[in-house]
Amino acid sequence: MQFAISQVVLAALAVAVFGLPAVQTTSDRGGLIWEGKNGTWIENIAVRSNGKLLVTLVNEPAVWEVDPILKSANLVYTFPNANVTLGIAEVEHGVFAVNVGNFSVPGKGVPGSWSIWTLDYRRHRSVDWSDATSKPDSNIPLAKRVAALPDAQFLNGLTALDSEPGTVLSADSFRGLVYAVNTNTGVYSIAIDEPAFKPNASSAITLGINGIHVRNGVLYFSNSLRSPLLGKISLSTNGSASSPVKIIASTPAYPLDADLFQIDDFAIDTAGRNAWIVTNPSGVVVKISLATGQQKVVAGALTDPTFAGATSAAFGRTRGDRDILYVVTDGGAVDPVAAGLKGGTVVALDTAGL
Ligand SMILES: *[C@@H]1O[C@H](CO)[C@@H](O)[C@H](O)[C@H]1NC(C)=O
Ligand SMILES: *[C@@H]1O[C@H](CO)[C@@H](O)[C@H](O)[C@H]1NC(C)=O
Ligand SMILES: *[C@@H]1O[C@H](CO)[C@@H](O)[C@H](O)[C@H]1NC(C)=O
Ligand SMILES: *[C@@H]1O[C@H](CO)[C@@H](O)[C@H](O)[C@H]1NC(C)=O
Ligand SMILES: *[C@@H]1O[C@H](CO)[C@@H](O)[C@H](O)[C@H]1NC(C)=O
Repeated sequence: MQFAISQVVLAALAVAVFGLPAVQTTSDRGGLIWEGKNGTWIENIAVRSNGKLLVTLVNEPAVWEVDPILKSANLVYTFPNANVTLGIAEVEHGVFAVNVGNFSVPGKGVPGSWSIWTLDYRRHRSVDWSDATSKPDSNIPLAKRVAALPDAQFLNGLTALDSEPGTVLSADSFRGLVYAVNTNTGVYSIAIDEPAFKPNASSAITLGINGIHVRNGVLYFSNSLRSPLLGKISLSTNGSASSPVKIIASTPAYPLDADLFQIDDFAIDTAGRNAWIVTNPSGVVVKISLATGQQKVVAGALTDPTFAGATSAAFGRTRGDRDILYVVTDGGAVDPVAAGLKGGTVVALDTAGL
């Protein structure tokens, strides 16, 4: 059985690694929520309206659900004919879209392997189940491959296009562009292709645009290895650009693990004031003001295992955890020398007062 780490072991690990009390209560507002077995690389996170956390993995083509109160996890779905899952976002209420494909080695996409799937928790009777891989009466959401993108090379960040329910934007980190994909019809096109999305030509790692998030008709994006670190671009309703790229933050003002990525994914807070970026392998969480671009390290350090290998983050959606940032990690896989290697984690960070 995978991830067969008992609560007891988890609690012990929490004590060993983070010095948390062995008995954790639901009132905990920070600390380790869950740790996968060694080798687990958690890549992305989306939050359900019921507060449960859906996480994608690079070490297996699967989505897991993590309960932040019970501090337990269970497998939701394993995607066939693929070996990694990346960006995940809610595209309509109760429906989550996921980037699914193959890596030849971590971070190197296999052309022709990419598709977008949805996990549908609505179970509407109107849904056509005929070409679905999971059954309507099963205990898991309906999983459906909604679009194949044969020209994609590395689908990384994914976000819902708020102006068109059912449509997502998906970032190709290798090609440095953004696709718009209608998850109802499977029709897709290149929506935005900008120099600011491209990989850094002088870097050995071909990884450009990474995290993407739409808020109020504006696409916010990170670029892992070149300027701008964090930028934005206004969208027309179909997801094409309606303004030039505006730079929010040009370069990192925080400690960097030399020659490696500057930024991975990020989350925008409920008020829409700040992007909370996670850095892999630098292991710091940084708050960036969307208005001024000012950067502030709020948690972590190069040699601190707490946020080592942080890949993505998302805010809670319930009244009790709206200001809790759930950070997911690869367990330190990109640079194990910096802070050690363990299973990927989900860690809660209370942002109130940060
Ligand atoms: C994933 O599939 C690709 C082929 O598309 C293969 O090269 C790679 O080794 C596979 N990775 C794993 C971890 O199985
Ligand atoms: C992707 O990986 C899966 C599982 O390893 C494999 O079955 C499939 O053929 C691969 N697809 C491509 C296009 O390489
Ligand atoms: C690309 O990376 C190099 C080496 O880290 C850096 O000096 C350069 O500024 C980067 N290019 C851009 C456009 O950020
Ligand atoms: C998207 O909308 C813009 C602005 O209205 C328009 O110029 C463009 O042709 C549209 N693109 C597609 C693919 O429909
Ligand atoms: C995880 O596995 C690696 C080797 O694959 C090992 O070096 C490391 O100590 C392990 N970490 C833990 C916490 O067991």
